[in-house]
Amino acid sequence: MSFETLGLSHAVLQALELKGYDKPSPIQEQSIPTVLQGRDLLGIAQTGTGKTAAFMLPSIDRLVAADKRPKPRCCRMLVLAPTRELAGQIAKSASEYAQFVHLKVATVFGGTSVNRNRQELARGVDILIATPGRLVDLTDQNALDLSQVEVLVLDEADQMLDLGFIHALRQIVRMLPRQRQTLFFSATMPNSIKQLAGQYLTDPAQVSVAPASTTAERVEQYVVYLNQQEKQALLTIVLRDGFSAGEMDRVLVFTRTKHGADRVVRKLAQTNIVAAAIHGNKSQPQREKALDAFRAGQIKVLVATDIAARGIDIPGVSHVINFELPNVPEQYVHRIGRTARAGADGIAVSFCAQDEKEYLRDIQRLTKVTLEQVPLPESFNAEVSRINALTPPADRREEARRDAQAMERQNRGPRAPRAIVQAKRHGGGNAGPGGKSAGGNRGGGAGGRSGGQGQPRQEGGRATGNAGGHSHGGQQGKPRQDGARSGQGGRPAHAGHGGGNGGGQGRPGGQRNRRRSGGGQGGGGAPRG
Ligand SMILES: Nc1ncnc2c1ncn2[C@@H]1O[C@H](COP(=O)(O)OP(=O)(O)OP(=O)(O)O)[C@@H](O)[C@H]1O
Ligand SMILES: [Mg+2]
Repeated sequence: MSFETLGLSHAVLQALELKGYDKPSPIQEQSIPTVLQGRDLLGIAQTGTGKTAAFMLPSIDRLVAADKRPKPRCCRMLVLAPTRELAGQIAKSASEYAQFVHLKVATVFGGTSVNRNRQELARGVDILIATPGRLVDLTDQNALDLSQVEVLVLDEADQMLDLGFIHALRQIVRMLPRQRQTLFFSATMPNSIKQLAGQYLTDPAQVSVAPASTTAERVEQYVVYLNQQEKQALLTIVLRDGFSAGEMDRVLVFTRTKHGADRVVRKLAQTNIVAAAIHGNKSQPQREKALDAFRAGQIKVLVATDIAARGIDIPGVSHVINFELPNVPEQYVHRIGRTARAGADGIAVSFCAQDEKEYLRDIQRLTKVTLEQVPLPESFNAEVSRINALTPPADRREEARRDAQAMERQNRGPRAPRAIVQAKRHGGGNAGPGGKSAGGNRGGGAGGRSGGQGQPRQEGGRATGNAGGHSHGGQQGKPRQDGARSGQGGRPAHAGHGGGNGGGQGRPGGQRNRRRSGGGQGGGGAPRG
């Protein structure tokens, strides 16, 4: 199948050629003809498989074909996204895909000048990409009129329909014309949210390239069990060894809280590892600077809250490390989806503390993947002592206090609905984690608590206490042991990562990790921005 056969215009095809796309990914192949017909659509496909182009390319052609000019203060296509960074990224893609047609693309999101937004919207735009908060502000000020919208897109639709955004979304939808095309896309779609999605779509076509919450195809997933206080030491070892062995390229580390992200960066600096943090307490210029430096490879380690979990496309992210597990299992799918994009390989390592085992169980149920356990490295005890010695006991007590507070805040969040789904085995072959690139063990790290944090505006999510049991394979809970699988050598950290981005889409070949039967689907409550 080629892009030509999907019915796209010459101008769009030309732009795709410049982008170097040879052939459509499965979600593009299945969505584009339907969107071109003007139908509503709910599209589900794994992270990194080209959902942006799946909605943007045919919409560009429809906007051009309708041959209308945007009216002052109006937009013709409205794309809503949960974070500023994602909105900016979608706009960049839109501009590239639309470079041979005359469509005006604009973004509006928080942290930027409202006046500049007003000016940009004054004469009307064709494609507007927005975060809901700023969009509502602009409509309140009569700087934007949504009555002429022809196409509405919710990217990361399940998050946009979840607690943190649903209020703003309802307000926005009331201002839209009933007669419009509506497109929803995500890699995850909890059943509870899917029902809500139905209220906004009219007789939608449903395209599911893989069951919702299927993790990216070429990501190897590992878990290391340890104590929360040991995580920093493990992270240091993993990064130091991974980079010195040339096995790591760019590493995205997820923490539960904003101050936790800052602390990880500070502590890495004490061991001469340079990292930047990105989270909702940073200014917009700081956020952009950190992301740009990471994208450009000037900074190899980015420590983020869930603000960076969804949609962000940075080719060359070789590893995702969950310093703490997310309490909303869907968030795990998105976080680890920052690697292994567009046909590339990737490694995801989750550090799991005793009180995060319940989250891990939810994640494994949702994704039907059993994470492979890897042991702690040989040098681990010495490293823990060394790292701990860098922090005076009084500071450590203060850290523990703040952690407890953050946990309590999170536990006050609303409990997300849960729906048990049918156990289903799927996915193709089962390569097993061993068979990737040469050299190096694949590795993992230590554990923590969990939680999606990140964006201002809210923290939803499930809040629960500790979970018990659930052991697979080895030692659990007791950090220092090698409860590992046989054949998994020595040190947790690195992964022989083959590198390369780009390349084909939707590659065949099985899920590398074992898919597990036994279902369970967690509800929403993801963090917001
Ligand atoms: N047909 C294609 N051929 C090659 N590369 C592609 C193709 N379509 C998209 N890409 C590239 O794949 C990468 C991932 O695309 P995109 O960000 O749209 O994924 P996504 O499905 O939206 O992922 P997520 O669920 O994480 O948001 C981008 O760098 C994009 O340029
Ligand atoms: Mg996307």
